[in-house]
Amino acid sequence: MKVLVVVGARPNFMKAAPILKAIRAFNSAHEWSEPMEPILVHTGQHYDAQMSDAFFADLEMPQPDVFLGAGSGSHAEQTAEIMKRFERVLLEQKPQALLVVGDVNSTLACALAAAKLPPRLKPLIAHVEAGLRSFDRAMPEEINRILTDQISDVLFVTEESGLRHLQTEGIPRAKIHFVGNTMIDTLRACETRADLSTVLPRLGVTKREYALLTLHRAANVDDRDSFVEILSGLRDLAATQRVIFPAHPRTQKQIRDLGLESFFAPAQGGGIAMVAPQPYLDFLCLMKNARLVITDSGGIQEETTALGVPCVTVRDNTERPVTIELGSNVLAGTRCETIRQGIRLQLASRLKNAMPPLWDGRAAGRIIAVLANHLLPLVPVHLEDAAGQMQENAR
Ligand code: UD1
Repeated sequence: MKVLVVVGARPNFMKAAPILKAIRAFNSAHEWSEPMEPILVHTGQHYDAQMSDAFFADLEMPQPDVFLGAGSGSHAEQTAEIMKRFERVLLEQKPQALLVVGDVNSTLACALAAAKLPPRLKPLIAHVEAGLRSFDRAMPEEINRILTDQISDVLFVTEESGLRHLQTEGIPRAKIHFVGNTMIDTLRACETRADLSTVLPRLGVTKREYALLTLHRAANVDDRDSFVEILSGLRDLAATQRVIFPAHPRTQKQIRDLGLESFFAPAQGGGIAMVAPQPYLDFLCLMKNARLVITDSGGIQEETTALGVPCVTVRDNTERPVTIELGSNVLAGTRCETIRQGIRLQLASRLKNAMPPLWDGRAAGRIIAVLANHLLPLVPVHLEDAAGQMQENAR
């Protein structure tokens, strides 16, 4: 019973890690004649040690069984390269199920390669983190989300908005399962180890006395005027406190190419300190202890919500509305003045401890229970029993 699990880019690793653990736990808790055999495929969309290798160690993930080495390129080149290489893996492995996570190019490319196989070879396609919508089709991730959902057989949803969107788009309710958030499974499983990180003293900051910044979206960092506008919105904050900025490789390249290095000079008592992309445990420690997080990432909006840390999102929209509804996150847009307002608002806000439904560290267990009911329909598995049992075994 082969289950291919695909990862490609940094945010995929924390979503897939608990699923791999849950499969192992499921196999040891149930004595099937045919256990589920997870096969981890890494497309190589992210390939730097800092963007990929470091995460495998922190998340205690097994090394990939298959590495496709697709690398960077235009969206068409990257997607096509992954499809070509992944189709060969599908034909060779003949899996019963394919699990893709998130909304990156690897997610769509692998789901599409599988969906176009002849019916006798086509695996069950499951999408983890289905149904999120920003309603902004200029975002490559929005295209990836919509198309992956349309060609998936089983759709795992992290928040209630996902249920509504999928049904509005005509996906039958029976295919959709509201299971919670596997990225939050990882966060909960790693919090204790993250507390041991020495990253704060290494970067010369103390708890709640610094802000954390990430920026990498093409819309924010590829155009000089847009990038400068955002950096101007951060100037007041950076004048009074240290802003730690682990910069994505694409952002570092843009800063060099656009000649923006002067924005990152150290300042008395503050300034924006650009540092390398951080490994997962160090980054989790930085998020957890920050006074404020400013970001254009999707996942960080969710992680700060789970941690109760105020977040300012430098975008006009979000596909994760539950983070706004619970008050931990505000949408600040991308103009200097609106970013300043968002920062002022969040600096005045207290830590929040409201948690979205089912963000309880058991999402991966629910996913594997649903998958088992599809792959082994003669032996029904009760969702919550299996989720709890697997969480115990995965410890
Ligand atoms: C991708 C995802 C985005 C996700 C982000 C997290 C898509 C469409 N986008 O964006 O949703 O939030 O990952 O990091 O899939 N690069 C390196 N080393 C690497 C990876 C990338 O130097 O290991 C540089 C390359 O110059 C590359 C550029 O970053 O051209 C963009 O990489 P790519 O994977 O295409 O998209 P991301 O911006 O990382």
